[in-house]
Formats: sequence, C-alpha cells, structure tokens
Amino acid sequence: MPEKKVSRKKTGAKAEELKEEKPVRKPASKKAEPAKKEKPVKKAETAEEKPAVTEPAVPSEPELPQPRRSVAFIGSECYPFVKTGGLGDVMYALPRALTKQNCDVKVILPRYACIPQKYQEKMIYRGAFEMDLCADGRSYYVGIMEYVWDGVVYDFIDNDEFFSWGKPYTNLVDDIPKFCYFSKAALAALNYMDWVPDIIHCHDWQAALVPVFQQAMFQGTPVANAKTVFTIHNLRFQGIYDIKTIKYWTNLPDALFDYAVLKQGNDDANMLKGGLSYASMITTVSNTYAWEIQTEFFGEKLDAHLRYHSGKLRGIVNGIDVDIWNPKTDPLLPANYDVNDAIEQKKACKKTLQENLGLEDNQDKMVIGLISRLTNQKGLDLVNAIIPSLIDGNTQIVVLGTGDPEYENSFRYYENTYKGSVCSNIMYDEERAHQIYAGADALLVPSLFEPCGLTQLIAMRYGTVPIVRETGGLKDTVEPYNEFTNEGNGFTFDRYEAGLLLDAINRAKTLYFTERDRWDEMVKRDLQKDVSWEKSAAQYRSLYLELKP
Ligand code: ADP
Ligand code: GLC
Repeated sequence: MPEKKVSRKKTGAKAEELKEEKPVRKPASKKAEPAKKEKPVKKAETAEEKPAVTEPAVPSEPELPQPRRSVAFIGSECYPFVKTGGLGDVMYALPRALTKQNCDVKVILPRYACIPQKYQEKMIYRGAFEMDLCADGRSYYVGIMEYVWDGVVYDFIDNDEFFSWGKPYTNLVDDIPKFCYFSKAALAALNYMDWVPDIIHCHDWQAALVPVFQQAMFQGTPVANAKTVFTIHNLRFQGIYDIKTIKYWTNLPDALFDYAVLKQGNDDANMLKGGLSYASMITTVSNTYAWEIQTEFFGEKLDAHLRYHSGKLRGIVNGIDVDIWNPKTDPLLPANYDVNDAIEQKKACKKTLQENLGLEDNQDKMVIGLISRLTNQKGLDLVNAIIPSLIDGNTQIVVLGTGDPEYENSFRYYENTYKGSVCSNIMYDEERAHQIYAGADALLVPSLFEPCGLTQLIAMRYGTVPIVRETGGLKDTVEPYNEFTNEGNGFTFDRYEAGLLLDAINRAKTLYFTERDRWDEMVKRDLQKDVSWEKSAAQYRSLYLELKP
C-alpha cells in the first residue's frame, strides 16, 4: 500500500532535538477528514496557533521600479539550507535579486532534517494545520517554520513523516509522495498565512503539481487568484510514476489523468507535464535550452507537449550571486583579487591549491578544473576518453564532484595513474569549490546538455577561462575566443565528440603557453563580464507584470 512508503522512523539524536524545538502540534484527537475540494485549508482554531506576524522589511530606495509585486517561490532546495546543484543557487540568488527589483518574495521549502542546526534554531513557528491529501481521506500535519533574512522570507513546510531523511532526495518511491504533499502544502500554507502573492513561481518537477492543485482543488480560495510561473531547470527529471500511485497521493480528479495534462505512455502520470499544462507561463534557464527542449533529442519525450505550449514558453538565462561569488571578498580564498591584481593574486591561489591537493607546486603548469555532479549530462565520457592525452608534463587536472560510481571510480583511477598531475576530489565541498574556481587557469564544462550551467559563470567571475560545449546556457554565456579580433571569453566546441573537446583544450593550451598576454587579457575580460542576476531578474519582473499588470 502506498501509505507504507512514508511511514519512517526518526533516526539519531538530531531528529529528537528537532522535535523538542518544535512548538505545540495539533491535538492528537483532531480527526482526520476526507479531502474537500472546495475547502482544502482549515484555519487554526486556537489562539497559540495564530501565525506570528513577521513581515519582511520593505526596501525603501526611491529608484525601485514600480509597481511592487509579490512572489512566492516554491522549490525543493535553496542554498545555504540545502543544495545539491544549481537549483539551490538560483532559489537563493534570484529572490534576493528580485527584492532589488521591488518584489516582495517568500521562498517556500521543505523543512528537511538535514538543514543545518544553526538555521533550524533561527526558525520561528508560524502556525500549523491539517490538510487533506490522499484518496483515502487521511489528513496530514502541515507546520510552517519561518526564517527572515535580508528582505527574503523563508517558510519551511514541516512534516516529519516526509522530511526526516538525511537527504532531500532519496528515490522515487519516497520522493513522489513527498513532493505531492509538499506542492499541496505550499499552496495551503499561503492561504493559511493569508499571504496571497501576485505570482507563484514554482521550480522543477518537485513543485510541478502546484499549478495543477491550484486549478483543480483551490478554486474559490484566495490562492486561486495568483498567476503561476513554472521554471524548468532540468527537463531530464520529471517525477513520473504509475497513475494509480499518483492518483492515490494527490486525489486529483480522474479527468486530469489524461494525455493533455498528466498522462504519459499507457499507465504513467508525469508531474512535470501537469505543471507545464497548467502554469500561466513556462520559463527555462536559457534561450538556447528553451529552443532545444522543443526538439526530440533534448525534449525528454515532452518535446511535442512543449511545442504545443510554446506560446507561453520563454528562456531567461541564470546569473550568479556576485556577493557570494566575489574574488575580491571571498573569505575562502588564500588571496583576494579583482581585475587590477588578478594575474598576480591568482598565482597565490594556484600555489595553495597545488599544495593542498598534492599536485606539483609549479606556476608553469596549466591547471584545468572540473566541478560537477558526476552524471552523464556533464560530458564526463568525453573527459574520461581524453585524460591520457592531456597528461603532457605541462597540465594538471583537478576534479571535484560526486555522483555515478562509474565516474567516481574512473576519476580515482586517473588520480592513481597520474599522481601529481591529476587530483580527484570525490566529495561535495563548497570551500574546495571556491578554491578551485580561483586557483585553476581553466574550467571544463563539456556537457551533453546544459539548461544553463552556473560553473562557467562562476569561473568567469573568478578569471578562470571556461572551456565548454556549445549547448544550452553554455552557448548563451560563453563567447568563443576569436584569435583574429582577440575577443571572447572562453573556448568552445560544438558536436559531442571527444576529439573536439581535446581540440578545444589544445587551443586553450596553445594560447596559454605561447601568447600569455592574450590569455591574461581574456582572464581580465572574464572578470569584468556581467554574470550577475540583475538583467535576468528584471526580465522575470517584466514577465510577472505581464501576467498581473
Ligand atoms: P547542476 O545544477 O546541473 O548540477 P550547475 O552548473 O547549474 O549544474 O550548478 C552546479 C552548482 O553546484 C555550482 O554552484 C557548483 O559550484 C556546485 N557544485 C557542483 N558539484 C560540487 C561539489 N562537488 N562541491 C561543491 N560544489 C559543487
Ligand atoms: C539544473 C541544470 C543547470 C542549471 C541549474 C540551475 O540543475 O542542470 O544547467 O544551471 O539547474 O538553473
């Protein structure tokens, strides 16, 4: 029975500590009630359950664009609370950039047990209620824990049954119920807090049912008035499971399990497809990817569906948070720099990197970095195929990543085989990432597909030259070096072939070893390139205004 899938035990002391921190729960005697479409949200009844009012500070700079807009971000990860990849960066940086565009932003996230204690401690209880979810009428606790930070309000949906694992994602058997619950709870929480935004902006499959629930079950409630934006960060992950299970966990009407909305293949429901169908607007994280996903190769079986909805599909390229990623102030670097002293100071960063990683301490070697989830999306087959050809006595390779065991093991193998020239850090480590971005000369991003990619943006911000495949956001953000005009930000190649990657790296090496002045000019161009969120946040703001003039 599906219900068994979510019955799990708390493990270890941490879960207990968290439990103690929590405020009063609903009385156990509260009877579970069947789902009611017209009234999915029950307000708290007792005085102590009334939400504590902690409104965000309203920025007062006179130059803020008018009118003010309110936006609820709904997604499954957000730096620094929980991050597994670029989605976490975007969920952190874009809301902050939007506050500077006169948007009032609330970010709704699951309260995973793995969120560090230092953040858990600062969360304030905002209230709790019971919510209908499944077809069997069982009701579920929804707690809201709030944390206000730098003009952004973070509301964490609390429920131990779903969020007590050590990681945000485990496997679909657990993740499907978890994110069905989360999507509905996020909407119900907005009603409960009496905060109905102009726009609900949902991200990736984990929040894809938000527009579906909104249309199907929240009509007649305040949250139905919001327009929805759905952003695809990665079309590969869609939240597909058999119709029976998803029907059970959502109690959505049968009519929605149709090819136009949720149905896929003979027996499956696709949560992301539902979100695409019902969102007022769809965006993805670069223009090129917005086009690519309408083709069969990149469309992950949804290309026809996306072509059908192409009238409401846009590409808006990601930026990075230029305060966190700032080589001038980054506390994790051995030496800080900007465009004026980068060429000298990067040498100090490179030296420390070489020393820390057991590489030969030698400024004359070219250090090439790779910071990535180790999955086949990231072009690692190409990298594996050419590492032996790169080892020429002048080149060092630094890998930082975790993921598929086959890639983890092949990089370990190369480190053992080429000691002193290859260093494989099979781990997730923010600090090491900063040190590689600063200490490397070039950074590889040879992806098979890349919706946007942030590592090439961070590399440029740190004066590290990106070597990328011309796909998705990589194509949109890295201008290829032109040896005739001495323009461009990096080295690129088009077809997904190891020989072409090797060729691009060799072109980079040639410039690095034979025309260092030109190389240094590119380093400086990269440091000056605008990779901030400013322009893209303004585009999101315009889109919000289009939806709610
Ligand atoms: P994706 O979201 O597909 O993984 P992005 O390039 O958009 O790729 O974002 C990756 C983010 O995760 C960047 O902030 C990058 O620095 C970070 N990252 C990836 N792997 C690691 C790692 N092993 N350790 C630290 N940070 C990592
Ligand atoms: C996804 C994509 C990556 C993108 C990130 C943030 O994880 O793989 O290309 O940069 O989301 O949008």
